[in-house]
Amino acid sequence: MSVIDLRSDTVTRPTAAMKEAIAKAEVGDDVFGEDPTVNELEAYSAQLMGKEAGLFVASGTMGNFVSLLSHCGRGDEVLVARGAHIFQYEQGGASSLGGMVLNPIGQSKMQAITASDVLNNISACDVHKPITRLVCLENTLNGIAVPLETTDAVVEAARNQGLKTHMDGARIFNAALALKSDVKRLVEGIDSVQFCFSKGLSAPVGSMVVGDKEFIHKARRARKALGGGMRQAGLLAAACRVALDQMTGRLEEDHENARKLAEGVKELDFLNVDLSNCQTNMVWIETRFPDEKLKAQTLVDEIKEQGVLVLATGPDKIRAVTHYGITDGDIDRTIAAFATAVAKIVEKADIQTGSRS
Ligand SMILES: Cc1ncc(COP(=O)(O)O)c(C=O)c1O
Repeated sequence: MSVIDLRSDTVTRPTAAMKEAIAKAEVGDDVFGEDPTVNELEAYSAQLMGKEAGLFVASGTMGNFVSLLSHCGRGDEVLVARGAHIFQYEQGGASSLGGMVLNPIGQSKMQAITASDVLNNISACDVHKPITRLVCLENTLNGIAVPLETTDAVVEAARNQGLKTHMDGARIFNAALALKSDVKRLVEGIDSVQFCFSKGLSAPVGSMVVGDKEFIHKARRARKALGGGMRQAGLLAAACRVALDQMTGRLEEDHENARKLAEGVKELDFLNVDLSNCQTNMVWIETRFPDEKLKAQTLVDEIKEQGVLVLATGPDKIRAVTHYGITDGDIDRTIAAFATAVAKIVEKADIQTGSRS
């Protein structure tokens, strides 16, 4: 039985074209600025995002961290959505290693921050408080494409208050597709952007940071201090260029598969999916077993027996992510696996079906 791995789009493997590009890549020492493949990828990425310069980094976490280090000093405050990766899943590195104060704002983990969230949380001119320097946006945020107007309003509010803005655009191409917008437009006016090649775009390693030349100069220094100066990194950059050229145009398939999965699972007993949150390649499944002992992890373990891997992200919450390599047939098999797993759990726990709320 083949395994269907929906834990994340990071599980994607490099394509044949990527492997070929890696084999043929021209390389040099990138710390000396002499790797032509990296230099070209940085310049091309900057142009794609409408910024002056780019910096190739090992990961999304490193891209976010060097950006924050370049915008802020120790004791500075960063406003960030409470559901954002920077706040939830980067070990609070900006605080523990960078000395910044991360202030989670916004209504809920699934909601993007608004201009009023920003304006209501700026602390300045008060000796008791840190000085707010930066606002971090994320798009997609937990798979939700943040509308252009929301982003524009935050950027304008931040700029009017003299704050810098950073976008964690790990999946910015998914956002662009869902919003039917050019990526450049989605990050217009934002001071720095980080985006990933190694998620839905299937490259094995790598993220890009873009911004103005002065910012990228600082970020390059920060990357070196963190040990992120790679040498013949053109081997990686070559695969990332293929990701940009060949993989952004196929994301629609992932979005369609996610939608089909969401609609299929929503029909099952004891499960619920808020379809309004399924806009790109992520599906959030809520478990509603009447027996308190039965948690999301119970279902994750049971469905694994059917050869399907998904992640429990909370006591009652499961995440499934579609990506390159997942077919329409895999989605049918996944929906069937959820149905079987629920039936088995119910049977074992002797729960009566039909008690669904
Ligand atoms: C929104 C977002 N930002 C940043 C990252 C970090 O990327 P990496 O795992 O490459 O450090 C992730 C990883 O999944 C992510 O989902």
